[in-house]
Amino acid sequence: VLQNLRGVGHGRLRIAVASTANYFVPTLLGTFCRRFPDVTVSLDVTNREELLTQLADNEVDLVIMGQPPAEMDLEASAIMENPLVIVAPPDHPLAQQQRIPLARLEKEIFLVREPGSGTRIAMERFFNEYNVRIATGMEVGSNEAIKQSVQAGLGLGLLSRDTVQMELELDRLVILDVQEFPILRHWYVVYRRGKRLSSVSESFKTFLLTEAAHLLGRQRSDVEFPPANTRQSR
Ligand code: PGA
Repeated sequence: VLQNLRGVGHGRLRIAVASTANYFVPTLLGTFCRRFPDVTVSLDVTNREELLTQLADNEVDLVIMGQPPAEMDLEASAIMENPLVIVAPPDHPLAQQQRIPLARLEKEIFLVREPGSGTRIAMERFFNEYNVRIATGMEVGSNEAIKQSVQAGLGLGLLSRDTVQMELELDRLVILDVQEFPILRHWYVVYRRGKRLSSVSESFKTFLLTEAAHLLGRQRSDVEFPPANTRQSR
C-alpha cells in the first residue's frame, strides 16, 4: 500500500463525513496526514441528507457515510461494519435484562435524530419492518445531544455504536440487550460516479479500504454496493 501511496505529494483533500463517522475519522486522518504531511485536508461533518447534496453538487472529493441510496449515481465501497445499538442510562430498568423482546420497546420513549439523518431513517425502517410502534419523544439534532439527553433520563437513544464508545467506558451509558439488535449497517467511502479522483483522493480511498478497519481494530466489510436486490433497478 505504501508504494501505491508514494508520489501523492502536495494536494488538497475535501472530505465530508456523517456526524456518526466523526468519532473515528479524525483518528484515521491522523495516520494519513502523518504519512503525507503536505496534504491539506478539509473535513466537514454533517448529516446524510447534506452529504448527498454535497455529492450531487460536486462540492467534495469523498464522503464517508452509512448506506448510500442505490438510485443516485454513486460509487461506494464498504469500509467496515457500523452496528446501531439502543442506549440507556446505567440505572434504567431494562439495563440488566437479557434478550429484551422488541415489543417491550413500545413502553419506552425514544429520542430521535432530525429528519435528514441516516441513523433516523435506519431506525424508522427497522421498527416498521418489525411492526414495532415506538413512542418518540424529543427530536434531537446531534448524536452528542442525544447522548446527553439519554443520560439525563429523557428517553432511550438509537445510535451508531461508534458514537458511544467513551460513554460506555465511563459507565455513563449502557447498550441494551434487545432481540434483533444490533441493526447491521456498514460504513462506506462514496464519490460521484464518473468523477476523476485526484491522486490524493485515490490514496485516501485506498487507505480507507485497506487500512482503516485494521487501524481501528475492526473487521473489514465486504458487502457490495449497490446491494444485490436493488442492482436490477439501476
Ligand atoms: P447521520 O449519519 O445519522 O448523521 O446522517 C449516518 C448515515 O449517513 O447513515
